[in-house]
Amino acid sequence: MRPEVDESLCIGDGACTDICPEVFEMGDDNLAHVINQNPGPELYDKVQEAADACPVEAIIIHEE
Ligand code: F3S
Repeated sequence: MRPEVDESLCIGDGACTDICPEVFEMGDDNLAHVINQNPGPELYDKVQEAADACPVEAIIIHEE
């Protein structure tokens, strides 16, 4: 799994960083950034939950 934040969509809602701070971090630009490009299986559910919680569907999960 490789999560990605589409910065052209992100509005800085913060749901993703609240739900899964292991992978998403709010930057100084008030946009979420992926800090773990290759999360292990133990984080898959939280990453998916974060993606589902994003109000603008800015989180893309690449299955690779
Ligand atoms: Fe941005 Fe969505 Fe997270 S708007 S801060 S990617 S919940």
